Amino acid sequence: MTPASVAAAGRGVARAFLACAALSLLVGLAGGLVVGLHYTALSPTLSRMGLGLAALRPIHTGATAGWIFFAGMAVVHRWLFERLEARVAEGDATALPLVNAVARRARLQLGLWVFAALSAAAALLAGYSTGREYLEYPPVCSIPIVAGWLLYAWNFVAVTRYRIRNMPVYAWMWGTSVVLFLWTFAEANAWMLDVLRERPVRDMAIQWKAYGSLVGSFNLLVYGSTSWLGTRISDDKYARSNMAFALFLVGVLNSFTNYVHHTYHLPQAELPKWIAFFVSMLEAVILARVMYDVAGLGRKWADRKRHPVVQTLLIATTTWTFVQLTFAILISIPPLNTWIHGTLAVVAHSMGSLIGIDSMALLAAGTWLMEEGDEARPLDVGAARRGLWSAGALNTGLAGMWLVLAIVGVQAGIGLVLRGELPWVGAFPAWTGPGIVGAGLLAALGMVGLVLPWLTRRAATVLAP
Ligand code: HEM
Repeated sequence: MTPASVAAAGRGVARAFLACAALSLLVGLAGGLVVGLHYTALSPTLSRMGLGLAALRPIHTGATAGWIFFAGMAVVHRWLFERLEARVAEGDATALPLVNAVARRARLQLGLWVFAALSAAAALLAGYSTGREYLEYPPVCSIPIVAGWLLYAWNFVAVTRYRIRNMPVYAWMWGTSVVLFLWTFAEANAWMLDVLRERPVRDMAIQWKAYGSLVGSFNLLVYGSTSWLGTRISDDKYARSNMAFALFLVGVLNSFTNYVHHTYHLPQAELPKWIAFFVSMLEAVILARVMYDVAGLGRKWADRKRHPVVQTLLIATTTWTFVQLTFAILISIPPLNTWIHGTLAVVAHSMGSLIGIDSMALLAAGTWLMEEGDEARPLDVGAARRGLWSAGALNTGLAGMWLVLAIVGVQAGIGLVLRGELPWVGAFPAWTGPGIVGAGLLAALGMVGLVLPWLTRRAATVLAP
């Protein structure tokens, strides 16, 4: 086995994860558009057709979370194979049996997650729901999800032997995300215990603490992927810098404190709220700085000839990080948070961050992985042009959707505080649904344009590494 064949195996595994990420995103986007249609007069017709909000919303959020996990795993596995490739190149015979074993476990992980996703979707469409937000699917589906994470942990430990002390920041981020996910996923499922069923306030506090840390675990997956990509478009220095490690440390700290934003309405002291506010803002400021550095904005723009779509997506990620940072500072100030809690402004914040920051960064990393190895060939101008148009459509659509959600949400919050009106769909302006669906369709078309090559180019590139 040569270093080149290890690299080819790594690309094969990464592209298998990317293909699943693309499919998961397509399902999530279709689900999101139907969820948006529920904000129009078509809602009763959709429910009669079996496409009710109770099934579609969890399918939308679950499939889009799946997109982030699959795409993040593509990047981590590419790096694990890079490490094996380096060991094989150094003549380390112990690395050889690992190559096939790691690839086998990665494919098994992929299979288990696809099985979990299909079973959960089938159960939801058949009308099943636990009623538990974000964990609506049958609890038994958690078994293949956890088994997949354990296989990933096994691969991570087998390749790194957990000796990450001298490794770049992304190894720390990915290594921590495993522990964080497994621990907090168990906490998130603790609601099934009788002891919590009898204590609703304690149950809600644990639920949101667990969800906050779960988001932290996939943020680390995304931050790690961004830092790794930064080293690929420049050099390894940045992933060992103080700034990158500051993002890691504050990101981990935030995953333990950010739950407070979701429990403002529960009886608790003021101090934790201000601690959570301070830590989140610190993380957001450092993230904005890291994204700015990674994109290298003007400086890197000069190299755009080689990876123009990747550079454009990184610049877009940086811009959205600044937009979301400003909005997050405003809506996290405890008295202002009370105004927008439970309104569509929160969806602008959460979905805006997931699309504008996490998805945009993963689209950049995935596009880079698809282009990896093509450096010696002339740039495919047609593909680059299609990619740039798609990135433009995604960002224009996202901006439109974000504005609709934020405006309607803030209006509803003001109505609630000043006039006691509940923020429900009947009180929203008539343009809410058409606005979400129209802008969402444009954003979705942009994302489809960016991920379609992940499905169609896979076989050809894997055969010719
Ligand atoms: C571009 C097409 C999309 C459309 C039209 C769309 C539409 C929607 C709508 C209408 C909601 C609000 C549901 C409700 O509470 O009534 C929602 C929520 C959500 N969406 Fe999307 N979505 C899209 C893409 C995405 C993507 C790409 C992601 C993630 C990567 C995502 C993640 C989420 C999440 C996590 C929520 C729940 C937010 C919360 O409860 O705070 N969406 N989506």
